Amino acid sequence: MAKKTIAEVDVAGKAVLMRVDFNVPLESVPDNEQQQITDDRRIRMALPSIEKVLQGGGRVILMSHLGRPKGTAGDAKFSLKPVAERLRQLLGREVLFASDTVGEDALSKARNLPNGGVLVLENLRFNPGEKQGDRQFAQTLASLGDVYCNDAFGTCHRSDASMVAVPEAMAGKPKVVGYLVAKEIQYLTETIANPQRPFVAILGGAKVSDKIQVIHNLLGICDRILIGGAMAYTFSLAQGGQVGDSLVEPDKVDLASELLEKGGSKLVLPVDTHCGDDFRADCNKKIVAAGSIPAGFQGLDIGPRTAAQYGEVVREAKTVVWNGPMGVFEMPPFDAGTKAVAEAIAESDAVSIIGGGDSAAAIEQLGFADRVSHVSTGGGASLAMLEGKKFAAVELLDDV
Ligand code: 3PG
Ligand code: MG
Repeated sequence: MAKKTIAEVDVAGKAVLMRVDFNVPLESVPDNEQQQITDDRRIRMALPSIEKVLQGGGRVILMSHLGRPKGTAGDAKFSLKPVAERLRQLLGREVLFASDTVGEDALSKARNLPNGGVLVLENLRFNPGEKQGDRQFAQTLASLGDVYCNDAFGTCHRSDASMVAVPEAMAGKPKVVGYLVAKEIQYLTETIANPQRPFVAILGGAKVSDKIQVIHNLLGICDRILIGGAMAYTFSLAQGGQVGDSLVEPDKVDLASELLEKGGSKLVLPVDTHCGDDFRADCNKKIVAAGSIPAGFQGLDIGPRTAAQYGEVVREAKTVVWNGPMGVFEMPPFDAGTKAVAEAIAESDAVSIIGGGDSAAAIEQLGFADRVSHVSTGGGASLAMLEGKKFAAVELLDDV
């Protein structure tokens, strides 16, 4: 059943406790303790829900994790402070920052927050209760809000306290999804369940083992699955091909054989491979037929014939899902296969859904992000959704 969204609650005069995924990539700046954000997409994508609450006369208390801090104290490397600053720039209004999550600073700033105000709490994972799903920690956070909103798509596959125990502790109060989570579910679940055909999935990345469940699930609903990335070499081994020094998972060869059998003609493998004699851009290169990679060489990208074929299949598709690069995208010229596929997706009229992580980064870098239907903000979460998994953090929210 569809989940109630933030658009459907009256937030006037209310404190909305909103879980967002502000786990953004950061880099250090010389002579500055504070880190710098290198990609703020996850923050920008949360703006509609935040703005909706402010326009509706409510106030917003934002909570997120950032990275995987080991200690409990405020290690600057894992602080959400730069995120609060970026949010202030993007919203064009004051954003308060609390130096803790359930400590004095957070509690007093949350309780004194006026309607129209925005408060960002410090990294939830500075408190071990977040990963442990601690009841007391959750109770205190829950006491800050009149409404709970989950707009943290990238974290929806987790059962951390802020995702599950906090909304559970808010019985009787509205618990809804934000616009971002609603949009992600719409594309990654609903569109896929009722696709316009042909429905083509393109799966890449290094390991078959990461994509087993996705392949199983999509074989049941797709018309074609195009395989790229290093996982193609494990499939090639399963077919008795020569893979030279390519990255393979020898213990997954049997599984690859099973998937090949189950998939039949639906599962499409590369016909050629761009390989090199070292994992370096300036190595000696060769294009060979798939399954004929000589000793001393490793596959680093799909070959040009495969790229052209995959492009053709994509151009005829009505729905496309893409997850995982076709080759070593960050090391040209082994980015050619990924580029060709991305370009074909951008040019097609199909409903196109780009899974998070590397493929999202690739489509952004190539400048095609606004020519696809949806670029997911979730890495692990988008994979889990493509696997057909249900998320406890979403299931427990109010139905329409
Ligand atoms: C992510 O980027 O994968 C999410 O923010 C979840 O983070 P996690 O994998 O550390 O739980
Ligand atoms: Mg992750």
